[in-house]
Amino acid sequence: MNTLSDWLTAMVKWFSVEDRLDQAVRVAMFRQPAAKAFSLSAYADAEGTGEGAVFDRALARSVDPDVERLIRKHQEDERNHERWLIERREALGLPAQPIPSHLRTIEVLSAEAGNLLDLPMTEDRHIAAVYALLYVVEERALAEFASAERALRTAGDPETADLFARIATDEANHLRYCDAVGRRYAGPAWNGSVDAMRAIEQRVYAQQQRAFTRYVVDSGRFVMPPWMRFVTLPTVAMADWLRGPRTAAV
Ligand SMILES: [Fe+2]
Ligand SMILES: [Fe+2]
Repeated sequence: MNTLSDWLTAMVKWFSVEDRLDQAVRVAMFRQPAAKAFSLSAYADAEGTGEGAVFDRALARSVDPDVERLIRKHQEDERNHERWLIERREALGLPAQPIPSHLRTIEVLSAEAGNLLDLPMTEDRHIAAVYALLYVVEERALAEFASAERALRTAGDPETADLFARIATDEANHLRYCDAVGRRYAGPAWNGSVDAMRAIEQRVYAQQQRAFTRYVVDSGRFVMPPWMRFVTLPTVAMADWLRGPRTAAV
């Protein structure tokens, strides 16, 4: 471990191990009804909370009909996603589960980035900052729905996997909407704002993913196979150590 390339190689290997473990955890969760009910409830909750007020306030502020059209379409898509996920959970006969506030990632992210979702959106820079947040949330949604889709297919639920693939197609469009709206209000500062927000989001997502796993295990919804528990606990501890102390970037 003497050179930078040794370190980089070790990191790449480390992260692929982490990715494989992540997929194994997802598949195991989708095979257990209580864990799957909670997971699908959490996906629906994420689609339905947080962003709603942003869209309404951005619409009130918008003076450009093209921007307004994008915001309306985005709002409508997110409402559909929530409804489709609820309908799918019900079709599977799985009960709705309440999601504790500390697991609402978009709200935690907003708080860590300076309570962005509470901004009155009365100024262009407010809309620009909130859309940088939405942009990185959409980036994450794309990756998240792709991982969940793969895990659902492995777990033997192709219909729910197809729904996740359909939602992911919309999320790819949302990235373009956020980019258009963000650039309209942020101007040349847009790329820098997105980069700064992405750094915060990556830290928050890693922390939230571990909190989610801990919650489903501790609440008895997910019975983790012994080998997975054995591997996961030191992995989580190592990930915390590698990522260093969690200090706010803004
Ligand atoms: Fe969505
Ligand atoms: Fe979206």
